Order: sequence, then C-alpha cells, then structure tokens
Amino acid sequence: QRECHTKIFGSNVVYFKSIDSTQTKAHELARQGAKHGTIVIANEQTNGKGRLGRSWFSNEGKGIWMSILLRPSFSYNEAPQITLFASIILTNALRSLYGIDIRIKWPNDLYFEKKKIAGILTEMHGEQDQIHYLIIGIGINTHKTKYPLELKQKAGSLEEFINQNPKRIEILCKFLEQFEKNYELFHQKGFAPFFDEYNQLLLKKGTPIVVTQSTSFIYGQIYGVDENGYLIVKKENGEMIKVVSGDITI
Ligand code: BTN
Repeated sequence: QRECHTKIFGSNVVYFKSIDSTQTKAHELARQGAKHGTIVIANEQTNGKGRLGRSWFSNEGKGIWMSILLRPSFSYNEAPQITLFASIILTNALRSLYGIDIRIKWPNDLYFEKKKIAGILTEMHGEQDQIHYLIIGIGINTHKTKYPLELKQKAGSLEEFINQNPKRIEILCKFLEQFEKNYELFHQKGFAPFFDEYNQLLLKKGTPIVVTQSTSFIYGQIYGVDENGYLIVKKENGEMIKVVSGDITI
C-alpha cells in the first residue's frame, strides 16, 4: 500500500483493467478537456502502440502501461525533448530503486545490458507555435513474461535482473514524484539543464552504430547528445553529424 506524493501528476487517475491502448484513451480524454497531469493506466493493453508505428507488447499484469496528459505552454520544437527528459527521470527512478545500471538508448529506450525494459512514446497535438496537449506514453516491463518470437532477443523485464519482486506501485510513485519535482525546471528552461545527466546515462558512448533514416544508413560512433537532445555521431570518415530523429542500431 502506497500513495504517490504528487499534487499534479496523478491527481486524476483513470484506470482500466484492460484497454486497447492507454495512449488512444488519453487522446480521447484530452479532446474532452481532461486536465493537465491526468494519467491513464491499465493492467493490460490489447493494442499497445510503440514508436514508428510499431506495436507494444503489454501483457496483463506484466508491466506498467500508462499515458500522461500534459498541457504545457511550449512550442512544437521544444516538445520532443520532453521524451528525453522523461527517460532520464525513469532511468533514475529505476536505478535508485533497484541499484542496476540501466542506460538510455537514444532517444528514449531504457536498456539493461542487451535487453529493452522500457519505452516511451510522445505524441502531440496543436499548432507550430503552441501545442494544445502532449501525451507521454510509458511502457515498463516489470515482470517476466513469454514474449513472441520476434521480441525474444531484445525484450526483457526488470524481474529478470533484480533479486526481488518489482512492485509496480513503488516504481510508479517514484517516477511520478521525480517527474513532478523536475518538471517546472524543464518547462522553464527546456532540456539544457538536463543534458549532462542524459549524456551520463547514454548507452554505449563511443561504440559503433548504424543510423537509419528512412532509406539511408550512416555508420559511425555515438558521441553524445547536444543541448537540444540531438544525437552527435562521428562518421567513419571522422566527420561529426547531428541526428535529429530516426533510429539507431547498436
Ligand atoms: C516504444 O519504445 O516504441 C514506445 C513504447 C510505448 C508504450 C506505451 S505503454 C503505455 C502507452 N500506451 C500505448 O499504447 N503505448 C504507450
């Protein structure tokens, strides 16, 4: 039994035993005027959504599947960085609870060793200069489960790596409390105050990667992120480039 010590995030919680996607539901509630800080959370998703049109495996009781509704007053350009902000908060929450070396794979996947244990999907709605609302969807694999064949290599859960039974409420509260504590700073100053920390948590600095952007590939090494959260990659010929969006393979 635990109550989260937050005033805004989680002041309105909408819970479902089973739902297609908390993300879709959060969009619906946002359109109906739900307030800043509303959280949609489910024990099971039957049609969980991942980044880049992928699906997100969300078995009953095996993780935290939630979407947070924000009504911030920043522009479209600043919004993507909140995903990086959220990934720092979540990484630190899990590290402090379980003492394991969780890392961020740019832009916002959480890895322990070679297994992805959490992912974040941010979606926004609004105009160039002002977004109406933003939804941060977070999926955390807490408990062991049978993954479909295509995910077996890559997906993992916290339970596999810690010597205890992960308590979803502990993780949820820790995350929300830290999120709330740091949100004002992010809202006012953006990603800059956090980028050092992000770089420290970044996975495999200096190791070879492939950057895929639709149909093109770039071979290089991760150098770090800049103050905007763009990935700085050192190409094979020594040239430094910035990756604004896309996907990397390690
Ligand atoms: C990714 O790594 O591709 C992002 C995964 C995001 C999954 C979460 S689970 C809660 C919320 N509802 C969804 O349908 N997706 C997000």
